[in-house]
Amino acid sequence: MSLTLIITFIALLGSLYVFCPSSAELPWFEHPAKPDGSLSFLVVGDWGRRGAYNQTKVAHQMGIVGEKLKIDFIISTGDNFYDDGLTGVDDAAFFESFVNIYTAPSLAKQWYNVLGNHDYRGDVEAQLSPVLRDIDSRWLCLRSFIVNAEIAEFIFVDTTPFVNKYFTDPEDHVYDWSGIQPRKSYLANLLKVN
Ligand SMILES: *[C@@H]1O[C@H](CO)[C@@H](O)[C@H](O)[C@H]1NC(C)=O
Repeated sequence: MSLTLIITFIALLGSLYVFCPSSAELPWFEHPAKPDGSLSFLVVGDWGRRGAYNQTKVAHQMGIVGEKLKIDFIISTGDNFYDDGLTGVDDAAFFESFVNIYTAPSLAKQWYNVLGNHDYRGDVEAQLSPVLRDIDSRWLCLRSFIVNAEIAEFIFVDTTPFVNKYFTDPEDHVYDWSGIQPRKSYLANLLKVN
């Protein structure tokens, strides 16, 4: 598990804050707050266990809390599919760990997902693929992106490629670094984002 999420809360005086895109721009999504100006959401990480390790029970409770809070969306901080990500867009784990687990009506909201190191041990492109969105429209997974939710701005940063040991000492694991090579320029470019 690695820290895969930086949340930036903008105070209500947020009009003073100006987003300045630099040479690298992140994909950007607008998510409206509630009509009363509030926002609520759940954050979950390290979850894809095909229902085991109490995942189903946690999902059930998420559904109850989600309804009470009238959540607007859900954030996943990564390690979405244990142990080794998805094998491809047709991996049944997408159903067994996501589609068929988070079935409560209150969880039928947009999910904003990022990748954890376990996800990099599988077919990373699969989780990023629009094919999964077609299967379940709640699913949105990108490496790094921004969600502007009116009263708060959420900045999602793909931090796994920053961790040296995954490259120098991967132990028995194989990481799928396709799409981030050459690593140096990938990281440099990401750090340039304002
Ligand atoms: C599930 O939760 C129970 C109660 O907290 C705990 O005793 C049990 O070890 C958990 N099961 C697994 C497989 O983690």
